[in-house]
This record gives sequence, C-alpha cells and structure tokens, in this order.
Amino acid sequence: MAGARWNPERIAYGGDWSPEQWPEADWPAQLTALRDAGITTVTLGVFAWARLQPHPDVWDFAWFDRALDLLHREGFDVVLATPTASPPVWFSRAHPSSRVVDRDGVRLELGSRQNWCPSSPDYRRHASEVTRRLAERYADHPAVVLWHVNNELGCHNAECFCEVSAEAFRTWLRGRHETIDELNRAWGTAFWSQRYGSFDEIGAPARSTTFLNPAQVLDWRRFCSHELRRVLQLERDTLRSAGAKAPVTTNFMMGMGHAPGALDYHQWAQDVDVVSNDHYEVGWGDDEARLHEQVAWAGDLSRGVAEGRPWFLMEHAPSGVNWQRVNRSRRPGELRLATLGHVARGADAACFFQLVQSVAGAEKFHSAVIPHAGTQSRTYREASALGRELATLSEVVGSTVEASAALLFDWESAWAMQDPTMPSNDLQPMDTIRAAHRALGRLGTTADVVHPDRDLAGYRLLVVPSLYLCDDALAARLEGYARAGAEVVVTFFSGIADRDDRVRTGGYPGAFRGLLGVRSDAFTPLLPGIVVRAGGSDVGELAARTWTEEVEVRDAVVVARYDDGPWPGAAVLTRRAVGRGGAWYLASQLDVAGWRAVLARVGAELDARTPVPELSPRDGLLTDEVVEAIARGDLELVRRTGSGRAWTFALNHGTDPVRVRLPGEDLLTGRCAQVVELGAGGAAVVRAEVAGAV
Ligand code: GLA
Repeated sequence: MAGARWNPERIAYGGDWSPEQWPEADWPAQLTALRDAGITTVTLGVFAWARLQPHPDVWDFAWFDRALDLLHREGFDVVLATPTASPPVWFSRAHPSSRVVDRDGVRLELGSRQNWCPSSPDYRRHASEVTRRLAERYADHPAVVLWHVNNELGCHNAECFCEVSAEAFRTWLRGRHETIDELNRAWGTAFWSQRYGSFDEIGAPARSTTFLNPAQVLDWRRFCSHELRRVLQLERDTLRSAGAKAPVTTNFMMGMGHAPGALDYHQWAQDVDVVSNDHYEVGWGDDEARLHEQVAWAGDLSRGVAEGRPWFLMEHAPSGVNWQRVNRSRRPGELRLATLGHVARGADAACFFQLVQSVAGAEKFHSAVIPHAGTQSRTYREASALGRELATLSEVVGSTVEASAALLFDWESAWAMQDPTMPSNDLQPMDTIRAAHRALGRLGTTADVVHPDRDLAGYRLLVVPSLYLCDDALAARLEGYARAGAEVVVTFFSGIADRDDRVRTGGYPGAFRGLLGVRSDAFTPLLPGIVVRAGGSDVGELAARTWTEEVEVRDAVVVARYDDGPWPGAAVLTRRAVGRGGAWYLASQLDVAGWRAVLARVGAELDARTPVPELSPRDGLLTDEVVEAIARGDLELVRRTGSGRAWTFALNHGTDPVRVRLPGEDLLTGRCAQVVELGAGGAAVVRAEVAGAV
C-alpha cells in the first residue's frame, strides 16, 4: 500500500446516501436526522453517473456541489465514490460491446447494474473520464476524507466471455507463460489432446462438452481478478493524477457466505491506502455458522488482508437485506453486537448500506438507518444508540488486534479446489478453514487469516486448512517456524498441487510429507451423511466426515485413530516433534466440537512451554463460567492494543448472563469495576493499562 494515510480521529460511522433519489428539499431533514443518530460519515456518488453525465456531452455537477457543500456545512466527513459501478444507459447503448457476455455466449441486457466488461476499452475510457472530472472538481473539497473507487468491483461482472476479454486473456497468458511450450507444460495439455500450437488458439473457458482443463480455468480466474484490479488501478491513478490527496479505497467483498469469492484481495490490498470490506451475514445464523461467527470470520480475514492494520467496514446492513430468499429484520440488539464485533476485530469504521431507505428500485426493501417508517422506528432508535456508543470508542482507533494464531488462506488455492474434478465435490474450499476458525473462536483464540507468503514468525499456532495448492517453499518455512517453537497443524488435502495445479508425486500430502512424517497413497472421501467414529485419549471422541485416508505414520506420534469406517485403527491425528515445536496432521474433516478438542490439545502443548494469551488462563479471566460461555459460542472476547493500553471487547451473544473478570473502565458506560456483568446481548469495551503492550 502506498499513498495517503487514513488517520481518523474517531470511528467513522456512516453509510451510502443517494441524494439523486430524493427531492432536494428533503436533503436537509434527512441529514439532520442522520446527524442526530450520530452519523459522522457519508458515502456519496456510488451510483450517480447518469445524473452527473446525463448525455455524452452534458455534465451536471451543480447538484453534486450542493450536496457536498451541504454535507460539509452539516459537519459530515465524505467518502467520495467514483460513480463507475453502473454506466449510464446512453453509454451502454452506444457501446454494446462493453456489455458482459456470460459463459453461454449471451450478451446481457440492460436494466440491472454493473453490466460492463472489465476489459472493455470503451468502459475504461469513459470511467476514467468521469473519475478525472470528479477528482479535478473535488480534490480540495474540505469534506472529502476518503476516495472510494467504483463499488464492489466484480460483484456481478467478475467474468466476461466476450472476444475482447478472450484477447486480453491471451495477452495475459503470454506475460505469465512467455512461450506456448511452457503453457502446454503448465496446463498439462498432453492430456485429452489439448495441445496448443500458439497463444492465438486459446479461448476463454466458456461452456464446453464436459470438464474444462483445471489449470486453464485457474489461470482464467487469476486473469479475471487481475483484469478487474486493473480497473481499480486505473481509477486510483486517475484520481491521483487529477490531484486527489485523500486516501483511496475500494470496498472488497470478503467473508460473505461460504464461497471464497472471485477476487484475490491479498493482491488487491497492495493498491489501496486502506482496506475496506462490505459484509452481510447470510441465513438465520442457527445452522452453518452463527451470525457473530460470520462477522468474526469476515473481520479476521479483513484484518489479515490489511496485514494487521485497521480497516474500514464500508457496508453492512442496519437491519434486513432484500436479496436472500427470506429477509428478516435484525433482532433487537443484534446490530449493536454485529457492529462492535467488527470494531473488535480491527474496523475503525462502521458504515451501512444505506442511510435512507429507497422507495423505488430493486433495493427498496433493503433496510436503512432511516427506514420507510422514518425516525419513529426501532432501526433508527438502535442506530442512534449505537452512534452514541461508537463515539465513546475514539481512543481505540488506530490500535491493533491481538492474535496468537494464524489460519493460512490463499484465494488461488480455494479457486483450484472449486474445480468439479476434485476427489469429492462435498469438500468445498472454505469448509475446513471455517470450521477451524469457529473452533478457535470457541477456545477464545483470535486468529489472523493470512496469506501463506506472509511472515508468520509472530504466531504460536499456525493452521494450514486444506491448502490444496501451495509453493514448494512453504513446507520448509513452516518447518522453520515449528523449530522456533510454533505448533503447525496441517489438514488433509493440503500441499497436493503446485502453483500450476500439477500434483506432487510420491504420496500425499505432497509438499508436507517430510514436515509431518506421514504419507498416504489414496483418498477415501465419504458420502454425505456418513460419519466415521474416531478418537484418542487426549482428544476424546471425534466424528469424522467427508474425508478419510489410510495414513502411514513414518516419523510421528499417533494422537487419535479411526474406530470404524474404511480404515479402522489407522491414524487420524498425528504429531511430529520439530525443534521446539511440532507439526500435526489431521486426516479428516471434523465438526466444530471435534476441531475444538484437537486445537485444545495443540494449545496444551504450547501452554506447557510458553503461554499463549488466549489459550491459557490469564489474569483470572478464564473462569469456568467464561470458558463455558466461549465454548458455547455465546461469549466473544477480543483484545485490541496500542499505546500501552489494551481494550477488551466482551460481547455476549447468548441468552444467559455471564460475569467476566475484566478490571478497568468500560468505555461504553464509563464505569470502573473488577468484573463486568453481561446480560443477554450485553457488551463491554474495557480499557486496561498493559505493561509491555505497544
Ligand atoms: C452491496 C452493494 C450495495 C447494495 C448492497 C445491498 O453491498 O455495494 O450497493 O446493493 O449490496 O446489500
């Protein structure tokens, strides 16, 4: 990341406001109500292109000037968005080749949004022009604190199969592989007679007869992420060269639902001054992961992508959304806990889509701070109460989150695993890492979700969850961390393939055989619903699903074995002592309870040598009551530290009250005490002076 720094003095509390949807006479009252709710920050312009440039040669900034000036007079900070997410209709009609072509070769019709091909030169030229004009006009506007490029790049147009895209793909492939022989090697085109004589013969991987070449698809996904990243870079560079000084961001879509997403944000993060994320909880929260565990995952991933720095929550929902099958409202108190959950995990901003609920269009039933009912509404009242609370947290801004564990995550590996030719389509790329993340949470351990290439030296516990594809160098690096004292937990289906998706031979798990001291020669995935019993004296009973292997133990200690299933008596969990640490292999998919038992056993190994804050009793914090509430998934404890102080966020998502020994001042209430008592839905942010904290 380079460029301007984002140094807020308070938690930015705000969201998208679309003055173009309202009579100008309504603006002042809306802004007064928003200010009364404690809103400090307004995102402006996201979908305003058609109003700013109603015809190819007509520009109309006068209304935008008035909106921006009014916001400034009323004391709001402005996140100024380039309006490039949706071009005006006249543009798309004049340049039909700019519209997206789907994998069936259908060019998509207008009438929705974001219908532009990421490679389209027409789109790029026009997007660049409106960006330039915006920056030239508002670079020095005193209200602008942040530039917001485009909106959720790739949300609906991550792939385009038009000829322009195919040509751009070929150019990108030339850059990556240099020669056609090298491409043929990397893609394994000896298989199924797929050999290419030249780059010109290669197409985009649109619909075909049956399975596509997985390496071609993986390169395509890399290309698509790269191509949209170029749009981010183009707009950012245009902003800068037109004089924009405020930091630049764009809203990523991380941790939403169970899919990995189409964009490699580890790379994208290099192009922004501050990482922003949009997050919406999915479902009702009582099945897959509870709602706050979804928030925790998104927060830990956002922070990992931001390399530990504070990040910006650009969007979440004040209450219900409008795009799930059934869209419920948030329960009383849910918004407060979700927001504090994001802040606990490093967000220095908490913004919404949207501030005033639309009365027309596809999102008219999406919640807003000011809903259809107006300010006489529970959502407005709760948002206002939240605004008052966030104002008490200014001293937390800029601090970092304490995490002793890291979960290794790589978008490329996740994409490769999504190929339908894997040993089991029931193993989805996020399954293992999400289960491990939830289990760590239920031990009270905060984890950074980081790219494998990151420096991992500070972490005591490293989890490598079904990291199918990785570099040759990773195993040696992990061995080094283990030698220095880390415990490394590698699971099944890790280290299998190299960066070209070519399988490592000699036995599974490929790259990690030596590190782990184990080997297996075949996978035996399980049919849905099949549960294999497993266990060991240190971890109790485990329920293994989805995956088994007949593990041959060469240089490791067996910690747990299968009791039945295809390999009764074979190892399911092993540990090899490595220097001052150890390397574990977990050969099956476990539920959260099983994962928790395994990670508690790993944590005990660490405890015996060097206490890991979240895994060991500290300052009397982890009483039985607290440990049980954390284990149920009710209590969330996360610490941010900075300037010699620590702030512990204690959030009770459960219905039972819980007492937590946290001496200090609760910023939310201003009360000093030794113990905080959290009722159902209760929250505290307790400040303590910490020796040694930085
Ligand atoms: C995304 C978009 C917003 C809006 C919300 C609705 O986050 O960026 O424009 O559509 O979804 O949840």
